[in-house]
Amino acid sequence: MKKNIVVLSGSGISAESGIKTFRDSDGLWEEYHIEDVATWDAWVKNRELVLEFYNHRRMQLAAVQPNAAHYALARLEEKYNVQVVTQNVDDLHERAGSSKILHLHGELVKVRSTLDENLIYNIGYKEIFAGDKCEKGSQLRPHIVWFGEPVPLIAKAAYMVSEADILIVVGTSLQVYPAAGLMHYSPVGCKRYVIDPASLPLDGISNLTIIRKKAGDGVPELVNELLEL
Ligand code: APR
Repeated sequence: MKKNIVVLSGSGISAESGIKTFRDSDGLWEEYHIEDVATWDAWVKNRELVLEFYNHRRMQLAAVQPNAAHYALARLEEKYNVQVVTQNVDDLHERAGSSKILHLHGELVKVRSTLDENLIYNIGYKEIFAGDKCEKGSQLRPHIVWFGEPVPLIAKAAYMVSEADILIVVGTSLQVYPAAGLMHYSPVGCKRYVIDPASLPLDGISNLTIIRKKAGDGVPELVNELLEL
């Protein structure tokens, strides 16, 4: 039987594709205030700015490509059952060929109704504006989990992690909960890897290999090793 690999990815995996991370020194949250663009209050106070922020992110996404780390993770499927659980709202895992991807914080290429959260639309890299409405007549919003909002897929993600034989954490500062707590659901005996150039808060995590490298180097190296086992 194939072993299960769960990959927890964050913005660092897309950094070498040209997408800014959030908390690094030149990160997005240096340029914008979270409370201006990524909360329900911001949406109520200044819808245009919120829409513009995500329109910009979507446009930028159309112009970048997956990098060696995304492609390497897709190759892992030759030998393993691979589930990607990403905090990223980009679609670079999809474009690199990974087949099972859970987006904890939503997806840039989708928008949804503000009236009925089940009305979700694929818009690709297009912009949306104030006045763009769902089929029931309410304003469309980005399909993004904003700060202060519940994370609807967290229980599903925790279950996936609980089934992992191997856990690979890459490119996340592990500062945003509940996503940052997911590692703790990995079972006893799970082999854990963390790939990130920075030093992260990982006290108390056992059976752990820390790879202090950029994703574009560290992920393909680890994948080659795992494919040879
Ligand atoms: N390769 C691997 N990791 C990298 C690279 C790289 N080339 N460049 C930076 N990193 C690492 C940083 O060292 C840091 O640990 O990526 C991490 C980025 O951390 P954050 O900016 O905090 O991003 P992330 O953890 O994904 O943020 C979580 O916060 O704002 C919200 O919803 C947003 O999903 C996001 C969540």
